[in-house]
Amino acid sequence: MQGLRSWCGWSKILLLGISLGLLFYLYFLSAQAPKIEAAEEGSAKKGDPAAGEKLFFDTEGLGGLACVNCHKVKGKGADVGPDLSKVGEKPLDYLHESLVKPSAYIVPGYEVLEIKTKDGKTYQGIKKGETDTELKFIDVTDPDLKLTALPKDQVASVTPQPESFMFSFDKLLKEDQLNNILAYLQTLK
Ligand code: HEC
Repeated sequence: MQGLRSWCGWSKILLLGISLGLLFYLYFLSAQAPKIEAAEEGSAKKGDPAAGEKLFFDTEGLGGLACVNCHKVKGKGADVGPDLSKVGEKPLDYLHESLVKPSAYIVPGYEVLEIKTKDGKTYQGIKKGETDTELKFIDVTDPDLKLTALPKDQVASVTPQPESFMFSFDKLLKEDQLNNILAYLQTLK
């Protein structure tokens, strides 16, 4: 009996735990759903482009995640990802997807390449040109994103990877920050 009673006690606790978990999950879903809908329905128009621009260049607030560390706008920024000076010509849905699901579509030429050398080294890089004798790429495993050149006769294989080097900003930005950035990107034409 003792065993049965303590099992009943445990099962109640377990049941309570499961119900609470389910409740939190439902709450989470309902909190998430409007966010995605809102952005897709064009609420970015309600975003503040000036605040978005500030965030784009904010290497202090966003640290290494700041867009300007990888993108250039009107001559300012870095060349790791594509130049965004005219990205506002693209549809809002596409811009939204680029931010929250970057690997869904990878801009041609900006794939992360796995480069293996004949002496057994492996690099991960985004190609930045080549000459007759050299392959140039940004080493994405290097904290300073250094431009690296490898003699072509040392390269054994080059394989594009399915994941974008850009990470998803879905969880990194608050809803209003995401809308502000989208509003700013839409002004870039
Ligand atoms: C660590 C580097 C990095 C950071 C930081 C970064 N991106 Fe990117 N981004 C990339 C790369 C690389 C690509 C190209 C590959 C791809 O399509 O996913 C890209 C692609 C994009 C595209 C698609 C461009 C096109 O021409 O279609 C947009 C839009 C974009 N990024 C916006 C942003 C914004 C806005 C931020 C800041 C909130 C940001 N990115 C932060 C690396 C980065």
